[in-house]
Amino acid sequence: MSTTVIPVTTPTGGYDVHVGRGLLADLPALLPERARRVVIIHQPSLREVAEQIRESIADTGRKAFAAEIPDGEEAKTAQVAGFLWGVCGQAEIGRNDLVIGLGGGAATDLAGFVAASWLRGVDVLQVPTTVAAMVDAAVGGKTGINTSEGKNLVGAFHPPIAVIADLDVLAGLGANDVAAGMAEVVREASSPTSVFSRSSRRTRAQRSMSPATRSVSSSNARSG
Ligand SMILES: NC(=O)c1ccc[n+]([C@@H]2O[C@H](COP(=O)([O-])OP(=O)(O)OC[C@H]3O[C@@H](n4cnc5c(N)ncnc54)[C@H](O)[C@@H]3O)[C@@H](O)[C@H]2O)c1
Repeated sequence: MSTTVIPVTTPTGGYDVHVGRGLLADLPALLPERARRVVIIHQPSLREVAEQIRESIADTGRKAFAAEIPDGEEAKTAQVAGFLWGVCGQAEIGRNDLVIGLGGGAATDLAGFVAASWLRGVDVLQVPTTVAAMVDAAVGGKTGINTSEGKNLVGAFHPPIAVIADLDVLAGLGANDVAAGMAEVVREASSPTSVFSRSSRRTRAQRSMSPATRSVSSSNARSG
């Protein structure tokens, strides 16, 4: 399977979402040269993967550290964020360095928030490992943690420098987790604001135009 690269535009620039198989082996090639120290924030189920990534980054001459967090929502707390700020301090993560979020949406939300808040913002590279995180949580730059009053009440918008969705890691997931993620894909695809709904509205509108109008309309779309 070849790699698909989906560019995402943000007000401050943009980043690429890489989708394919075997992408984690090439992860070090996607790191910015300026990043000399890297903290990999991962869920317990991704311990081995995190260690492989840590070793491959260390092989490039960088200092790489793995930080394990509690599973699921237990990780999205001020206490765990505080623990990770401590890890960043001890790892001497500086302005040019990098945080990697490895895991489901709970891990990418937390890693993004820690990256957004450490030194008022360092780069984050997201490596989602559930379907839900690949199609939603890790893409878009929304990061956050929970408080006792509710979910995602504290956070920041902090787009990643890249998202790496390696489909090989999904092999470790149960059928229910994959189905739950795919349900999210269907829900999003059928919402009135989704890219699918917009493109099918466009197609219907184009079908109802005369051929001359359709040709003007599609050349406008290309130049716009
Ligand atoms: N930021 C956003 O825009 C956004 C959008 C949607 C959801 N979210 C957040 O995402 C979180 C839910 O994400 P989720 O559904 O991925 O749940 P999750 O992160 O809790 O992961 C679910 C379970 O799968 C395990 N797991 C992860 N990857 C695995 C793998 N490859 N193999 C085996 N097990 C694996 C995890 O350890 C965990 O037990 C919520 O906190 C939600 O608020 C954020």
